Amino acid sequence: MGVSAAPASTPESSGRPTAARRGPTGSSADGRALLELQAVTKSYATGKVALRDVDLVVPEGDFVFLVGPSGAGKSTVIRLLIREELATKGKVLLDGRDLARLKRREVPRIRRKIGIVFQDFKLLQTKTVRDNVAFALEVTGTPRRQIAPAVDRVLRVVGLAGQADQLPPELSGGEQQRTAIARALVHDPRLFIADEPTGNLDPSISWEIIQLLLSINEMGVTVLMATHNAEVVTALRKRVVALEDGRIVRDETGAAYHREG
Ligand SMILES: Nc1ncnc2c1ncn2[C@@H]1O[C@H](COP(=O)(O)OP(=O)(O)OP(=O)(O)O)[C@@H](O)[C@H]1O
Ligand SMILES: [Mg+2]
Repeated sequence: MGVSAAPASTPESSGRPTAARRGPTGSSADGRALLELQAVTKSYATGKVALRDVDLVVPEGDFVFLVGPSGAGKSTVIRLLIREELATKGKVLLDGRDLARLKRREVPRIRRKIGIVFQDFKLLQTKTVRDNVAFALEVTGTPRRQIAPAVDRVLRVVGLAGQADQLPPELSGGEQQRTAIARALVHDPRLFIADEPTGNLDPSISWEIIQLLLSINEMGVTVLMATHNAEVVTALRKRVVALEDGRIVRDETGAAYHREG
């Protein structure tokens, strides 16, 4: 797919060269966690307690699988990280910033540090692949002359240069997810979140998507993926954080989907 050649960095848009920000091992210069949950409890308006006293530290460059039964709280963790929800108790820190204490005008800039994809792709059905990705840059006011080269670059990263002028209904599920990944990469995120990204894909296509996430991680981007895909998790032996009923019940590196031993 040619991903190794062209990291999804857009130094033009971030204003900083990628290399100065990420060390060769992917750790930030001062060794600070990229994201941190400190004693986080989340209750929804219904009274449902979705997370209870959750502590989680993810250093820059990590690849983390978030697993657990349906309703365990995986998507709630993700909603807190993208500041779609605020913690009821405790703190959520992204790159050292307490998300609850951001000023309103700071939110978009912090939010662009995160790329996110979902099970259902969420593409604009009447825009081409190219325009779906370009739109993400247009709405953030990226200068016009920077948009086309940035879009071309991420489409090459995800292997969709040949499908740039097709509409989502003319793509396979895997291609639609790769379009969503390209759109999520175009802001040069530090953190890439995938909430059940292979949930609508068959096994071989799921593996292609996972390979793409691994190569994104190799570019220095921290990856957090919520999944029920036991085969993928167990095969890759990455860090596994398991939630059950809103609590972290396991946090192991080199782990399988299910507890072993
Ligand atoms: N907006 C909401 N209002 C009330 N309760 C909610 C809301 N969103 C989620 N919940 C509840 O919080 C709990 C955790 O939900 P969450 O979506 O985080 O689970 P999940 O681990 O992502 O599950 P799945 O694997 O099915 O996606 C569930 O009991 C769910 O019903
Ligand atoms: Mg979920």
